[in-house]
Amino acid sequence: MIAAPTEQRTTGTAATPNGVASGVTNGVVTPDGTPPGAPPDTIVSGGEVAGRRAPAPTTRRANGGAAAADLAIEAVQLERRFGDFVAVDKVDLAVRRGEIYGFLGPNGAGKSTTTRMLCTLTAPTGGRAIVAGHDVASDPDAVRLRIGVALQSAALDDKQTGAELLRQQGRYYGLTRAEIDRRLEDMRTLVDLGDALDQRIKSYSGGMKRRIDLAAALIHNPEVLFLDEPTTGLDPVSRAKVWEEVRRLNTDLGMTIFLTTQYLEEADSLADRVGVIDHGRIVAEGTPEALKRSIGSDVVIVRVDDVEAARRAVAALPGVDAVEVHGDELTASTSDGPGTVSPVAVALAEADVRVHALTLREPTLDDVFLTLTGNRLQEEDL
Ligand SMILES: Nc1ncnc2c1ncn2[C@@H]1O[C@H](COP(=O)(O)OP(=O)(O)OP(=O)(O)O)[C@@H](O)[C@H]1O
Ligand SMILES: [Mg+2]
Repeated sequence: MIAAPTEQRTTGTAATPNGVASGVTNGVVTPDGTPPGAPPDTIVSGGEVAGRRAPAPTTRRANGGAAAADLAIEAVQLERRFGDFVAVDKVDLAVRRGEIYGFLGPNGAGKSTTTRMLCTLTAPTGGRAIVAGHDVASDPDAVRLRIGVALQSAALDDKQTGAELLRQQGRYYGLTRAEIDRRLEDMRTLVDLGDALDQRIKSYSGGMKRRIDLAAALIHNPEVLFLDEPTTGLDPVSRAKVWEEVRRLNTDLGMTIFLTTQYLEEADSLADRVGVIDHGRIVAEGTPEALKRSIGSDVVIVRVDDVEAARRAVAALPGVDAVEVHGDELTASTSDGPGTVSPVAVALAEADVRVHALTLREPTLDDVFLTLTGNRLQEEDL
């Protein structure tokens, strides 16, 4: 049986036993199997897809043709509405077992809502999802046993030590004392917390809190790990540590990892495949390399005072495949960067456009996002 997942984000100490320890504990099993209260919005009863059995495996295309049995996560036309607002709009996903899948999108794109549906914490209003072989709507208990979840806003109890949190979490999953002891030792090295496990969480840095949160999600050795923005707000050193841990979990344990992020470098560096989400829709999916290649081998970026005049001057040039404008910046994609820089500069000079900066570089996922949506994902990357 299952502890009640709550619809609201976990802030502070939650009322349900599963929520007391941490935000990551939203989807766990209680030791005595008692559901501690009716959740406001779970899939356990009712809902459009509740009660439907897992459909027969189908072959999917998006992941290169892996059969459903090879999939850790399969979502078909998954949708979540809040009133008239569609937060997640018919999302299809096919994440292979052992894959790191990066779900990349700006604020409000629908990353957390999708994650919460896949983790059985929010009921879909349409479509279906199979996670670790079980339907999130009709078999949420089975899903929860097999997944680990570190939500975007974890609520940790500052007064606990890290070890106490992990023990509590292990008990929720029904682990024996000996199993918990063993896992605790694993965690010391796995998330690199060492002796800090015996200190109170209130003494932890932001990065350490993320890591204990991650450890709590891992205590029962889940098949699939969901990380919602695991490095947002972390300094570069802590971020690199989390990346390292994610890689290690994937390579050493073969764990499937579904990770949301607003950081293109994170998706680029960690993910085997990336789904780009904007306004609830997946606008592109592929390996980071393939996504970047899709817009050309190079981009020429110019910052100018008259961006429309610049667009007219540059768009017509031979060798320029596409032009995107964002603010005072124009991005021209091309398959021949070095050969295109001079013609771009000359064309701008002839059009009397004042150039503040001109850069030639390889495309980033941000350029992909710009081409697809007309917006930059990260303004600071300009
Ligand atoms: N419980 C809710 N009620 C109403 N609207 C909601 C609810 N939860 C999310 N939304 C809306 O759905 C949209 C998607 O939200 P979501 O939290 O999934 O985005 P996100 O991609 O995770 O964003 P962020 O990067 O800020 O975490 C947003 O416009 C948000 O305001
Ligand atoms: Mg979010």
